[in-house]
Amino acid sequence: MIYLDNHATTAVHPEVVEAMMPFLTEHFHNPSSGYRASRMVKKAIAEARGQVAELIGAKEDEVIFTGCGTESNNMVLKSLARVYGRKTSRVITGEIEHSAVLRPCQAMKDVGFEVHRCGVDEEGRLRLDEFREACEGAETGFSSIMWANNETGVIQPVGEACEIAKENGIAFHTDAIQAVGKTAVNVREVPVDFLSISGHKFHAPKGIGALYLREGVRFEPLIRGGGQEFGHRSGTENVPYIVGLGKAAALMKAALEKDQHAGVAANRDHLENRLCEEIEGVILNGSREHRVPTCAHVSFEGCEGAGLLILLDESGVQISTGSACMTGKQQPSHVQKAMGISDDQAKSSLRISFSSFTTREDTDEAVERIKMAVEKLRQVQGGSGVGPVVVYS
Ligand SMILES: Cc1ncc(COP(=O)(O)O)c(C=O)c1O
Repeated sequence: MIYLDNHATTAVHPEVVEAMMPFLTEHFHNPSSGYRASRMVKKAIAEARGQVAELIGAKEDEVIFTGCGTESNNMVLKSLARVYGRKTSRVITGEIEHSAVLRPCQAMKDVGFEVHRCGVDEEGRLRLDEFREACEGAETGFSSIMWANNETGVIQPVGEACEIAKENGIAFHTDAIQAVGKTAVNVREVPVDFLSISGHKFHAPKGIGALYLREGVRFEPLIRGGGQEFGHRSGTENVPYIVGLGKAAALMKAALEKDQHAGVAANRDHLENRLCEEIEGVILNGSREHRVPTCAHVSFEGCEGAGLLILLDESGVQISTGSACMTGKQQPSHVQKAMGISDDQAKSSLRISFSSFTTREDTDEAVERIKMAVEKLRQVQGGSGVGPVVVYS
């Protein structure tokens, strides 16, 4: 199998598994207990916190562990809603955010918050003029703008947006779930107030996340109880997964310091170049300048992405369509709509996503199999226009 769906999730790194194992076996103790074995477990949590903090340039006590990226986003947004209240405050977010931001924002709108969703340009980047206008027009409020988009990999102008928010007294959260570990993210250089992280996007297991809370920000916990995580997220700590997240963060920090994942970007670019040279009617979507090294978003004229996905799965390539697939029918995603991509182009797209485990051989083999799938589908669908999805053996 050739795995090219790393924006959905990544394989757990063998060194992460190795780091976790002792905490699933002999070091099972509750970190809050009073004996030496527990102190050792507590120390492992502190070490992992330091590793995550180092990856994003934070102080150790500015990082708390959560159950996943969705939880991190929800915790921040619900806290901000309580801190600011609905009477005078405005919620400012973007059209292309993940549902883990859009849905909590919708829930706020349902109970009377004023929610502004700012658009993006054709490259998939936030329209800063709209963002500025929304901030300037707000009496008080808070904002949430993602660092990198999950579908296109396009990096948002978070630094500029954060500055605008600060100038206008608007709190700033970023969903950095598709950016952390893949590209430089530093909370000293971009002074966001809150930042969400998810482990399974960079080789830790699923079900562990983190949240950066800038020192001194107001935060209302969603989960109250025994006071773990500095009282911000109670519940006995998921020690093995926390240790795994710490290890993955250290591995990603080393890779970024070495060469910013140059090998991953080289494979992605190689695939894009070959697809453009060897297949007719290929369109690359989104900014090519501002993007994480792990993602290519490609449309194949005359082919429905859902059909390509099935053919590629049969030929041993695991990939995502570039747009949402609902009840078997492919729909342009909200991200593609916001970018002004036509319905046909949207429906004919694939999201091809890489990691440091993707080899050049896998990349070349994937190109061959994509070529075959496109050819086959175009024959069946008649060459031009997007036809029905045909499933055949
Ligand atoms: C941008 C973004 N935000 C949030 C999430 C949700 O993260 P998790 O799967 O850890 O809940 C994802 C996962 O796909 C994502 O890509």
